[in-house]
Amino acid sequence: MTDNASPPGAIDALQWENRRFPPSAAFKNDTLAAGTFLYDEADADYQGFWARQSADLLDWAKEWHTICEWELPFAKWFVGGELNVSFNCLDRHVLGGRGDRVAFYWEGEPGDSRVVTYAELLDETQRFANVLKDLGVGKGDRVNIYLPMIPEAVVAMLACARIGAAHSVVFGGFSANSLRDRINDAEAKVLVTADGGFRRGDVFPLKPVADEALADTPSITGVVVVRRGGNEVEMEAGRDHWYHDLIGAADPVCVAEPMDSEQLLFLLYTSGTTGKPKGIMHTSGGYLTQVAFTHKYVFDLHPETDVFWCTADVGWITGHSYIVYGPLANGATQVMYEGVPNHPGNDRLWEIIEKYKVTLFYTAPTAIRTFMKWGAAEPEKHDLSSLRLLGSVGEPINPEAWMWYQEHIGGNSCPIVDTWWQTETGAIMISPLPGATTTKPGSATFPLPGIGAELVDEQGDRVEHGGGYLTLTRPWPSMLRGIWGDQERYRETYWSRFDGRYFAGDGAKLDSDGYLWLLGRVDDVMNVSGHRISTTEVESALVAHPAVAEAAVVGATDPTTGQAIIAYVTLRGGAAADEQELRAFVGEEIGHIAKPKTIYFTPDLPKTRSGKIMRRLLRDVAEGRNLGDTSTLADVNVVSELQRRAAETPPDD
Ligand code: PRX
Repeated sequence: MTDNASPPGAIDALQWENRRFPPSAAFKNDTLAAGTFLYDEADADYQGFWARQSADLLDWAKEWHTICEWELPFAKWFVGGELNVSFNCLDRHVLGGRGDRVAFYWEGEPGDSRVVTYAELLDETQRFANVLKDLGVGKGDRVNIYLPMIPEAVVAMLACARIGAAHSVVFGGFSANSLRDRINDAEAKVLVTADGGFRRGDVFPLKPVADEALADTPSITGVVVVRRGGNEVEMEAGRDHWYHDLIGAADPVCVAEPMDSEQLLFLLYTSGTTGKPKGIMHTSGGYLTQVAFTHKYVFDLHPETDVFWCTADVGWITGHSYIVYGPLANGATQVMYEGVPNHPGNDRLWEIIEKYKVTLFYTAPTAIRTFMKWGAAEPEKHDLSSLRLLGSVGEPINPEAWMWYQEHIGGNSCPIVDTWWQTETGAIMISPLPGATTTKPGSATFPLPGIGAELVDEQGDRVEHGGGYLTLTRPWPSMLRGIWGDQERYRETYWSRFDGRYFAGDGAKLDSDGYLWLLGRVDDVMNVSGHRISTTEVESALVAHPAVAEAAVVGATDPTTGQAIIAYVTLRGGAAADEQELRAFVGEEIGHIAKPKTIYFTPDLPKTRSGKIMRRLLRDVAEGRNLGDTSTLADVNVVSELQRRAAETPPDD
């Protein structure tokens, strides 16, 4: 929480939405969770509930002796238990006679495709686990992964899990600097990357970007490069190896050793309110339990007949939990797609749904709003009748987008699950259960069984109706175990604002039926196309440019991307830089997702008399709102000048 946080009352702009959609009789007929039995069980004893789910959904090599050890803010789940995550995602399906089941229908952007069965995925994972071992990776080590959306990304993650090494996946859109910082923070031994990948019809380079990062990553002793883009790359003798050479020569057997339930499974870096990304830590038994549980019940998974498609990138938590660990633990068949939704045409996703007869489709509101812009004629070109459920994640979904999704993608016959969660929560926390919950467009509805979520006011008192801060009231199995290398920051960031509660950083409203409506972040974290970007991080990047004296960054409401990054920049005396140059510079510093949409140059930034930049006021300027009280401003003229400039900028710039 910062001085710039809006109190929930101030973001209370949402209209009450009264349309309701109960589960259809047809859907209820064959659903895994009709009625309230899961909620009832969890209400009676939430820890016992999770213990039963864990025993039911996973294979443990050794039983745990304690379900949950909770010393606020540190939790351990299934203490004393041992399991191997990759065994749970692969071996047990193959041993159970399901080796021929398709794990992935993979679709490359240029139109090439691969079908990978569970048996094949197990074989390649074992080989790659041995490759990692040969490169000196052992239990407890970290491996960085910087790959496009190709099956090798899944193999690399599962191979780490198999040998007890933690992976740290960095989204392929991040820059060399971002990759370097993440490698160094994690002190990773090995980097797994590719020559390049396909995006919008072109090859985007990865290895050349990685090379820049590798100039300054002393912990890295080996680099494995998958050939995908076919672009020219340099290989450093002794350090760099082609994936296909190593896999071809690797021992095919790597026995899945049982690991402690609390063995570190992965780090995933996410933006917070400061300039330094946080390495969120997730461990094994609890994480796998909750991702498997939520994937099964929220998506009503029937693994023999369903084809699940989550459109996220494996570089984000959604890809970790709902492409890799949840679906594979449940033996699901999935689609994995490498590229963008508009290559070669705006109907690419609908073509893929038709081709593979996708039944469960999970995407983000920003994508849905883009599809709305492209028009209903695009999905109408294809037979989408295989779909039986739709999901949404990453940001609040506006009721119009929800209705469009239901009508034009779901053919008015699919329930929609709007799923609220975070990198830190590891798995879905607030969502309908599709066969049990009556939905309202735009509401994520209720906490899932076993989850405690409440709204509180500024003082930390519970709010039963209206706006408040979203908090979580008890530990959950897939909760983050902390921030890598900085447990004090963990306590401070999540557990210090409200006594005994995890504060998620989101505002929400409760209606009179007890439905939750997420309202977005109340801190300095922006949500651009479902990606979390910290205002401070972009400010730091701008200020790193030699021409920039000062910068203030805000997230302004944007009809397609949810929020857009707007920067206000003061240049150093005598220095010159234009908007394009600074945007490119931020791209270099952080990655293309963090480039400001618009940069305003200003001789001064609006500050309070104590020198704090007034971000809320800048947001008002960016969104063209009338300004309220500016009496605390040191220099009122700064703002009128900024307003004049904002009014001159065409809205779609
Ligand atoms: O603000 C919330 C928003 O995304 C944030 C978490 O971002 P990240 O850790 O990148 O994970 C995204 C995918 C789980 C949250 O604090 N958010 C996520 N899902 C929703 C949402 N906001 C509203 N409704 C959602 N369904």
